Amino acid sequence: LLGVAYPIVQGAFGGFDSQRLTAAVSAFGGLGAFGANALEPALITDTIAELRALTDKPFAVNLWVSTEDDAARTSDAAAFERSRAALTPHFRELGVALPEYRRKPSMSFPAQARAVLDAGVPVFSFIFGVPPAEILQECRSRGVVTLGTATNPDEAIALERAGIDAVVASGFEAGGHRGSFLGRSEDSLLGTLALVPQVRDVVSVPVIAAGGIGDARGAAAALALGASGVQIGTALLACEGSGATPAHRDAISRQRYTPTRLTRGFTGRLARGLDNTLMQTLERDGVETLPYPLQRGLVRALTSAAESAGRADLTVMWAGEAAGLSRTRDAATFLDQLVTELAPIAGTLVTWSAQRTRRET
Ligand SMILES: Cc1cc2nc3c(=O)[nH]c(=O)nc-3n(C[C@H](O)[C@H](O)[C@H](O)COP(=O)(O)O)c2cc1C
Repeated sequence: LLGVAYPIVQGAFGGFDSQRLTAAVSAFGGLGAFGANALEPALITDTIAELRALTDKPFAVNLWVSTEDDAARTSDAAAFERSRAALTPHFRELGVALPEYRRKPSMSFPAQARAVLDAGVPVFSFIFGVPPAEILQECRSRGVVTLGTATNPDEAIALERAGIDAVVASGFEAGGHRGSFLGRSEDSLLGTLALVPQVRDVVSVPVIAAGGIGDARGAAAALALGASGVQIGTALLACEGSGATPAHRDAISRQRYTPTRLTRGFTGRLARGLDNTLMQTLERDGVETLPYPLQRGLVRALTSAAESAGRADLTVMWAGEAAGLSRTRDAATFLDQLVTELAPIAGTLVTWSAQRTRRET
């Protein structure tokens, strides 16, 4: 389906990707991915041209179907000031002026999707919803493979009904945002071990397991659960050449356990990152969180200053629960080890899980 040598997909990292890492994963024989949710259409076109210059292998471009919470449309300056109050001591500490309330138009998914389709990408992946029928229809007629993200079995059914080609089943161990789109994210906190077989049981398209897979043991477990492939985020984010800062990469692959937590504080939508001072400030009782993307804009004003000042404790450190497994900082070495360890048992696992599914249906 994807035209790759190995059933390994790089998780897209909206805002933390690099063309270099995407191309490295594709060159290895996996599916490199690039998160373009924060890019204007013209930049998406340029980025895809750069990717094509770096690799002739298939890659995915990823967008967010929903780019704004409904509540963002009615949020006002007073709400902004209440949320900003929690961060005021940190702005002062960094010697940065307090950001003022300012409304910016949100990204337009249809305009971004237009750029993705016109550039003729091999694979179009998305999160936070099901794209409009005419966009999916155009993908089919152009031969673009589509991957949609589900955080519960109902979302997987909705994606399959819309005609997507494969479902990414994303367990709550995953780094970054929960891509939930039916109901509240807090009601779809299934772990990968429970989610993948439940999704496998309700759809007939291939399932790609995501969340908490940091080495061949996790990948083998996912195949045994009925996944046809794995999507890996955090372990690749920790590799040289990813779009994360060196401090962020170091924090992920620190050799000692650091807790990760789900919070709405960083952006307004539920997402998993490493616990740090900023997360604790935003999670304090009584602190108000703005809807997405307003909270993201507010927090970014602080974190860009914190990054320049080398204050990792006040930046957003996205990471999933498998962060503690990240040992290898070179993407090709990491993938080579994964494939070498997985290859001898992968066929058996896939056959076993297919037999089991057939018995049940
Ligand atoms: C920094 C970061 C940014 C992410 N951005 C996106 C995104 O824009 N779109 C998306 O579909 N998934 C996104 N994800 C989720 C990953 O694509 C992937 O599914 C997840 O990281 C897999 O779980 P793992 O981190 O446990 O390996 C992001 C993850 C991280 C860590």
